[in-house]
Amino acid sequence: MKLEGNNAFVTGGGSGLGAEICRAFAAEGASVCVTDIDRDSAARVAAECAAVTAGADCLRCDVSDSASVAAAFADFDEKFGRLDILVNNAGIIHTDPDYVAIQQKGMEAQVMEAMAGGPISTHMETITRLSDEMFDRMLKIHLYGTFYCTREALRRMRDQGQGGRIINMGSIMGSASLAGAPDYCAAKGGIMAFTRATAREAASYGVLVNSLSPGFIDTPLLDPMNEQQRKLIAMQTPLGRLGRVEEISAAAVFLASPEASFVTGQTLSPNGGIHMSQ
Ligand SMILES: NC(=O)c1ccc[n+]([C@@H]2O[C@H](COP(=O)([O-])OP(=O)(O)OC[C@H]3O[C@@H](n4cnc5c(N)ncnc54)[C@H](O)[C@@H]3O)[C@@H](O)[C@H]2O)c1
Repeated sequence: MKLEGNNAFVTGGGSGLGAEICRAFAAEGASVCVTDIDRDSAARVAAECAAVTAGADCLRCDVSDSASVAAAFADFDEKFGRLDILVNNAGIIHTDPDYVAIQQKGMEAQVMEAMAGGPISTHMETITRLSDEMFDRMLKIHLYGTFYCTREALRRMRDQGQGGRIINMGSIMGSASLAGAPDYCAAKGGIMAFTRATAREAASYGVLVNSLSPGFIDTPLLDPMNEQQRKLIAMQTPLGRLGRVEEISAAAVFLASPEASFVTGQTLSPNGGIHMSQ
């Protein structure tokens, strides 16, 4: 058991990658606090974890609200005592049908124009149609959320004096900046830069900080994508398919485990080869 005796706080643990990370941590012996803005989904995942490990529990935590984050960490202290691992995973993409339609039509039209030999005459319009509120929400949940939780975790890990691990969920979009999601790319790029800055500062506490930077993984997050977009992504991915949640949770277990004891400030990117540079 790679994580026996460790207490973990996972954000966005009620679905997709976060849920699978909670299950994988539990299977490796960690006590897992499943947190999510949706308490019911967190409770379901915590019940699954409780079947295989001691001390699984759930909390409601809206990572975009620093008061909610502070309250969740205070509850965590009561329930779990020591904090060993934080996973900043919670995230969103836009689901507003009008905006999704703009993304899909722009991408499909540009692909058709490229396949016909160009030129590309369709404009994407995903920046020009983005409102202040949409941009704020994307940054608040991903980048501010990562900051709020990291601040709470680092205070505890510093005072405990026993080191710790922080794993931030980046994305290939943070470095490859694929078309159609400019605010998501900005948020993930910010998370990856924040990861390196935190790793440098937290090293003296013995806290190792890394990011995961997945390619396209089959989770409910991708529900707004149509079948054509999924096929296009699979075609562009050298391994020929979308990733599975277990392929990301395995990487999270590695980064949380003693095997990663000399790894900090890094990005681990399970992405099927769709993006091959940092
Ligand atoms: N699925 C992919 O292809 C992919 C690729 C790269 C990175 N990611 C990142 O992985 C993370 C998890 O994504 P997923 O695919 O599992 O998505 P998902 O939609 O399955 O799960 C996201 C979870 O985050 C929760 N959440 C949303 N807003 C929240 C908030 N304000 N506070 C707390 N929780 C909140 C949701 O309730 C949900 O349970 C995200 O950060 C996402 O950007 C996903």
